Amino acid sequence: MARLAGYPLQILLCLLLSAYTQAQLLIPAPKGQYAVGQNTIKLVDTSRTDPYDPSHGHRAVMTSLFYPVPKRSCTQICPVPYMPPVTASYIDASVAALGIPNGTFESIRMQACCSVAPKAKKDITKVPVILFSGGLQGTRLLYSALAQTLASAGYAVITMDHTYETSIVEFPDGTIIPGLNDTNFDPEVPGLLDSVLAIRAADARFVLTQMGLKSVVQKLIPGAACGFNVKNGNAAFYGHSFGGATAIAALMHDSRLAAAINLDGMQFGNLTDTKKPALLVGRAEPSPHNRTTDATWAQTWTHFKGWRREVAVAKIEHNTFGDTGLLIKLSGLPVSDDIKSVIGSLDGGRSFTVITEVVRTFFDLVLKGKKTGLFEKGSKDLPEVVVG
Ligand SMILES: *[C@@H]1O[C@H](CO)[C@@H](O)[C@H](O)[C@H]1NC(C)=O
Ligand SMILES: *[C@@H]1O[C@H](CO)[C@@H](O)[C@H](O)[C@H]1NC(C)=O
Ligand SMILES: *[C@@H]1O[C@H](CO)[C@@H](O)[C@H](O)[C@H]1NC(C)=O
Ligand SMILES: *[C@@H]1O[C@H](CO)[C@@H](O)[C@H](O)[C@H]1NC(C)=O
Repeated sequence: MARLAGYPLQILLCLLLSAYTQAQLLIPAPKGQYAVGQNTIKLVDTSRTDPYDPSHGHRAVMTSLFYPVPKRSCTQICPVPYMPPVTASYIDASVAALGIPNGTFESIRMQACCSVAPKAKKDITKVPVILFSGGLQGTRLLYSALAQTLASAGYAVITMDHTYETSIVEFPDGTIIPGLNDTNFDPEVPGLLDSVLAIRAADARFVLTQMGLKSVVQKLIPGAACGFNVKNGNAAFYGHSFGGATAIAALMHDSRLAAAINLDGMQFGNLTDTKKPALLVGRAEPSPHNRTTDATWAQTWTHFKGWRREVAVAKIEHNTFGDTGLLIKLSGLPVSDDIKSVIGSLDGGRSFTVITEVVRTFFDLVLKGKKTGLFEKGSKDLPEVVVG
């Protein structure tokens, strides 16, 4: 202590800073063809009263946008916090039992394109738009690396929270809205989750409309020349778990959506026939989830009247569909049996790659017409993927 106290201030600062840098967890830049810019925005739907808000205010939806920037036009990459601070400490507390040290989520940084050459801005909205919704009561923020990776393949990806359902929503002004308790989202109560899904689907329709507005998009991407084209088969939707169910139900009812993916989510909601492409991604051994094991999937399958596929990923669990596996891998924490029970035995970095590749390949097929054999006969690069 005495010796430490004798160090010049500069050296002390250096020591502290290097300890801090070591503790920081930096998500690698996405590997796709594009750099990715990102921003968040609170969108307020003045046409809807929030059904959960005790003071009957307008429905507000917190979103993140990840958008592709041609690498030659991205003039600076900046580290940006993975989560805002209150959400990060909330998530830390909720995973403490897994042995994940307090402070972990505050320390995570993503690499975002934070400066775009002015001449690139007029074309920046000329890409397909993809919505994302996460698991029941889950935060959109635990799917940001997945969204960023998809964006790096040339898509504008918008992730959404669903206020009062999401465990914690942190608005840009610091307002925190905690989720309601579990009794409001009890899968055993007949029809309850169907009505929760209808609220989510309305959030998604609203957010998609907002992404078509120049005034909104210019707040997200300063200098953008116009809104995104959210019509003419240029928009799609993927989601995890309850968000996957939302994506499929929204596909069936919103003519602007061209395709959807349900990542491992039991289906709820008002189902109707659709001829649009739909993909179910479930799990293979050792904890299978497919249309044989899940009657809601068998039912949903009969409503898919166009291109439809089901694939299963081996050696993963329900919570592997998101950033968790990647984050655990990057943290270097020992992968305990408790952690494996959450994310499966497949290496966390690998499962992240496999899932992002399946999602990207589907959207490249349906939105860009890129040919693939993945959904016919599998791929030697993705042996974990079983075509059902
Ligand atoms: C985690 O760290 C935060 C910020 O330093 C602190 O407020 C909180 O009490 C800590 N939680 C636990 C469980 O130690
Ligand atoms: C859970 O929420 C419901 C409806 O909002 C409320 O009536 C109930 O008292 C809450 N239960 C607990 C344990 O807080
Ligand atoms: C279910 O969807 C159909 C077709 O879009 C619609 O006519 C019907 O009103 C919907 N039912 C409910 C309960 O939302
Ligand atoms: C679903 O999983 C079960 C159990 O692994 C398997 O027997 C069945 O063939 C699978 N069904 C499909 C359609 O892949």
